[in-house]
Amino acid sequence: MISEDKIAEIRERAPIAEIIGNYVVLKKSGQSLKGLCPFHNEKTPSFYVHPKRGFYHCFGCKASGDVFSFLMHVEGKTFPEVARDLAEQTGVQLPVYDPQREAEHQRNKKHTERLASLMEKATEFYCNQLREHPDAAIARAEIDARGLSEESARTFRLGYAPHGWDVLARYLERSGASPADAEAVGLIVARRSGRGHYDRFRHRLMFPVTDVHGRVVAFSGRALEPAPAMEQPKEPPAKYLNSPENALYHKGEILYGLHEGRVEIRRESSVVLCEGNFDLVALHQAGFGNALAPMGTAFTDAHAKLIKRFAEKVTFLFDGDSAGRKAVREAYGVLTKAALAAHVVTLPPGSDPDSFLREQGADSLRTRIVSAPTIIEHLIDEAADVTEPNPHAKAEAIAKLGPILAKVESPIERGLYVERLARKFGIADVGLVRRELRRGLGRTQRSTSAPRDAVQQTIAPPVSELQLKLISVLIDQPTLVHEEGIEKLPQLLTSQDLRAIFDSILRMVDRQGSLDVTALLDELKDNQLRPWLEAKLAVQQHSIDEAREILDDGLPLLERKSIERELPRLQQRIVEARRVGDDALAAGLTREFVELTRSAHKLKANPKQR
Ligand code: UTP
Ligand code: MN
Repeated sequence: MISEDKIAEIRERAPIAEIIGNYVVLKKSGQSLKGLCPFHNEKTPSFYVHPKRGFYHCFGCKASGDVFSFLMHVEGKTFPEVARDLAEQTGVQLPVYDPQREAEHQRNKKHTERLASLMEKATEFYCNQLREHPDAAIARAEIDARGLSEESARTFRLGYAPHGWDVLARYLERSGASPADAEAVGLIVARRSGRGHYDRFRHRLMFPVTDVHGRVVAFSGRALEPAPAMEQPKEPPAKYLNSPENALYHKGEILYGLHEGRVEIRRESSVVLCEGNFDLVALHQAGFGNALAPMGTAFTDAHAKLIKRFAEKVTFLFDGDSAGRKAVREAYGVLTKAALAAHVVTLPPGSDPDSFLREQGADSLRTRIVSAPTIIEHLIDEAADVTEPNPHAKAEAIAKLGPILAKVESPIERGLYVERLARKFGIADVGLVRRELRRGLGRTQRSTSAPRDAVQQTIAPPVSELQLKLISVLIDQPTLVHEEGIEKLPQLLTSQDLRAIFDSILRMVDRQGSLDVTALLDELKDNQLRPWLEAKLAVQQHSIDEAREILDDGLPLLERKSIERELPRLQQRIVEARRVGDDALAAGLTREFVELTRSAHKLKANPKQR
């Protein structure tokens, strides 16, 4: 646990505008900065950052918070992770609770940092080789033939591993890297003779693979046409050679492209999942910045969890071959477990996203993506396609789909799937299909999910514009709460939520002379007007002079309105008192009535007096 004080200190020191500026182009707008929201899709900026208040807010999607919540959302990190990183960046010392664990943590960190810097060095080396090595022309020609631009190659830091046996090994040695480290991350391999090392990757086009933080953790090397000067290999090299797993790299947990695509993925709340390295780079280049690829492995629970940190939906863009289809089938369970929605694009046989983009273009692919069937529709269609057209095979195939359809919560959705199933299998009687599905279900367990609670909506009474305006002025210029006349304001407020906001402002100004946005929002966690408050906090609209003027005009007006509301009530009470014969009370109330009417008139004639 990190103390509130430390958190506040970090928040104060963290340069929020600069940090958010790493993800969003921000332009000055009054006291705030504004830009395109990283949390939803928009064409005109409605995302505001107020640096002095350490606060951001989007008027479009209502996302708001401080530097911690920003980084948690955009980087998919937990609070402690973000706090640790920011503490380091801002030079805030966090207390050590468990010295032993802390020491171990530091040791591990040093170790992985050393390995990561080695991978970084290798990435630079391969990049330079791609530019300089005579045989790199073959790699550059491959990049070119795939239609990849120089910019894409730069963005993804594509490189070339030369074919000499120990070019990288010698380079790393000269630069003082530890051979043991280089071996640990699989860049070099110990010679069988026991002395020295040779390079793992030789004459390959190199794809550096980053983790979500942007550190290179592995390489994937694509085989190339042999170079003229090379001795002919005895057998053709494997198409791809990947780094072995190491302290930085666990292949079931890495999604290629996640670092590059994370902001886009968050914005779209969806990812496009492809299989190959070329597919991934080509997709990004064609404007599908939310594309990801698992590293030549099956789609794992860890992958799904990682995606879930950024998005709600996955669209599969796997190859149309049988391996691709199988991968989609096997991903189904993983997806449901993680509650990720999924759709499937089926590409024509023999093509993958990379070749499809070159042959048919980005628009054509986009059309397929937006009209992609859900994974269940896809599984139904696929089952219908591959099932032999005899009654027994059909019955079996339908029964097999039972457990999948049973998990669909919405009865309407389920009904539509059943109809699709009947249609695809050419069965006229939908009731029959239902029975067959149930038969399949009998073999497994029946799902027992409870119906979802109805969404509860509490509707607060509308709050007057004038009252909101006056409070928003105080939010901008909180020290004005002590100006003469403002003490009348709280009793004039008709909304309890608005009064609570006023009280918090007053307390905070008394305590510290200014507003602390985080503390304020924290105090007002359950306040119905919190969304309104967040929006107000994101932009400062009123200078002190404007604020004074608005208060000078607004307070008397509010007072008059309040009197005007009161008068008919008084009148009612006077009538009542007369009816029961309480003349004294009636007379008193009448005096009050006359007095109030007079002050209402005065307020109307000379509003600026307060
Ligand atoms: P593909 O064979 O579809 O590769 O394998 P690709 O990227 O489309 O390559 P091209 O277009 O034929 O040149 C998909 C992914 O599976 C992994 C790689 O990550 C590859 O990008 N893979 C494939 C391996 O790890 N090893 C292999 O031998 C083959
Ligand atoms: Mn391919």
